[in-house]
Amino acid sequence: METIQFQLNGKSTELRADPAMPLLWGLRDHLGLKGCKPGCLQGVCGACTVHVDGVPSRACQTPVESVKGRKVTTIEGLAEPLRQRLLTAWIEHQALQCGYCQPGQAMTAAALLMAQPAPDAAAVAGAMAGHLCRCGAGPRVLKAVQTALLPERTTT
Ligand code: FES
Repeated sequence: METIQFQLNGKSTELRADPAMPLLWGLRDHLGLKGCKPGCLQGVCGACTVHVDGVPSRACQTPVESVKGRKVTTIEGLAEPLRQRLLTAWIEHQALQCGYCQPGQAMTAAALLMAQPAPDAAAVAGAMAGHLCRCGAGPRVLKAVQTALLPERTTT
């Protein structure tokens, strides 16, 4: 066991855990943040995506020791106005169905927008390609992300 200190959603946080434990379990089971979801647990589906120093990261593949001294942001800590921009687009396209994969998708979309204020459609599609949706809302989620990230352009 080790005490790992890091910034979580803007607040200094300590987590006492096995340093090799995936961040996903640290966030969900130790710190009570259930927004990042366990899916494949193999780094493939993207349901567990959080930001580590602003970069989308698969929490299931991120040992807690690797975030020592770094900034972790979960869907619960996504800042305004980005949070509202994504939420408005989600509602406009009725993108919610089961919702399971969507916090991860929103975190990837948010990171893209922070890194590239005006991404093109190819950049959006490329960034979101690493997310799997099992319930059938995937096309609506992609439209919502395109609306949020490409607000001046028409989505198809
Ligand atoms: Fe982490 Fe699927 S649960 S990528």
